[in-house]
Amino acid sequence: MKITAPKGTRDILPSDMYKWHAAQKAFADVCHTYGYEEIRIPTFEDTNLFQRGVGDTTDVVQKEMYTFEDKGGRSITLRPEGTAGVVRSYIENGMMSLPGPVRMFYDITAFRYENVQKGRYREFHQFGLESFGSAGPAIDVEIISIVDVFFRKMGMDDVKLHINSIGCPSCRAKYNEALKDHFRPHLDTMCADCRNRFDRNPLRMIDCKVDADKDCVKSAPRLIDYLCDECREHFEGLKKGLDEIGIGYEIDPNIVRGLDYYTRTVFEFVSENVGTQGTICGGGRYDGLVESLGGPSTPGIGFAMGVERFLMEAEARGIEFKNPHYVQIYLAGMSEAASSLIAKTCHDLRLKGIGCEQDLMGRSFRAQMKYAGKSGIPYMAVIGDDEIASGEIRVKCMEDGSETVVKIGDLAGFLSGKQ
Ligand code: HAM
Repeated sequence: MKITAPKGTRDILPSDMYKWHAAQKAFADVCHTYGYEEIRIPTFEDTNLFQRGVGDTTDVVQKEMYTFEDKGGRSITLRPEGTAGVVRSYIENGMMSLPGPVRMFYDITAFRYENVQKGRYREFHQFGLESFGSAGPAIDVEIISIVDVFFRKMGMDDVKLHINSIGCPSCRAKYNEALKDHFRPHLDTMCADCRNRFDRNPLRMIDCKVDADKDCVKSAPRLIDYLCDECREHFEGLKKGLDEIGIGYEIDPNIVRGLDYYTRTVFEFVSENVGTQGTICGGGRYDGLVESLGGPSTPGIGFAMGVERFLMEAEARGIEFKNPHYVQIYLAGMSEAASSLIAKTCHDLRLKGIGCEQDLMGRSFRAQMKYAGKSGIPYMAVIGDDEIASGEIRVKCMEDGSETVVKIGDLAGFLSGKQ
């Protein structure tokens, strides 16, 4: 029986890896310029963390989690996202005693049992960050600007930003009543999950994938019309801050986000190139999450970007990533004595950080030349008896065919700086 990768998972092949490395490095570089440090969190966590953190009326928790019992009888879940784990770590490691804002970024895999389609997988990657301790809209503006700077660095100047405010628990209470009044007459036409959400969390009804096209969902009241004075002021601050630094946005009252922890600011960077949902990056504020997971009352905000969707967008825009040639030279040998010198020369080059390759397949001299020609390695040189005697080789640049005579001992100096 042929064994294939599980549905919804993908291999990232070595030939594509340079794009991932370029994106990872750019994201980390941008985060560092804002004072964020990387955090690594476990791939699996106690299932309760996501039930309490992400919310047990969300699709993610109700339908999409990879949950299993481990051999010790614990309920374990592969992380469907990074925020809950980072918040757990923040509390568990006493980071509230650090000077705020406490800022962390991450580069993770995440797992959701979703219907697989373009841009939607069961194992996927996220670049994300979380920031704790700052309540005012300035940090909301700043984290949105991180995404903006990252996109621009990667050559994308105009990814559309949608923003909204979904208020605090006090505006939400009034809004929930309005939503219930709206949905009550339509309840029997709605899916079983929505009927269940009606009492527990009516906001989730307007985010339901099953009922999304129903008129009653489309005509539901909008949270932004129910904001209390403080939430409205916060949202005004966000808009003003974005205007001040020249980041364009559209207010989209329909953004509610698929996870329960959000309060006030929510935002998404969207594009039609990345599949039906169209969201490359989503995030927002979660001022109640740290407390609900057992920590002190602490405001928080963050976002996560789907790396596969980011790369899909880059490809649709024809953005080229620099493919670094880690291996700079191929040394072809004409004899056994040459092979020994090549092995020693390669070892010396690698100690100096210069990438090189030698024959490891027992290829004939002709076959080595053919391999070097096809390999994409930028330089090659042949070592035979003459070169052994003179200690000099002719280094050929594969791009333009030019040759330079170089002493074997000077090869590292010749090649360094040519990358
Ligand atoms: P999310 O909107 O669920 O938010 O996911 C963030 C991004 O991950 C999405 O915009 C999308 O690009 C990508 N993504 C989600 N599901 C899939 C999938 N099945 N296949 C491929 N890509 C996917 C969060 O995860 C929040 N933790 C973000 C956050 C951080 N909010 C505050 N802090």
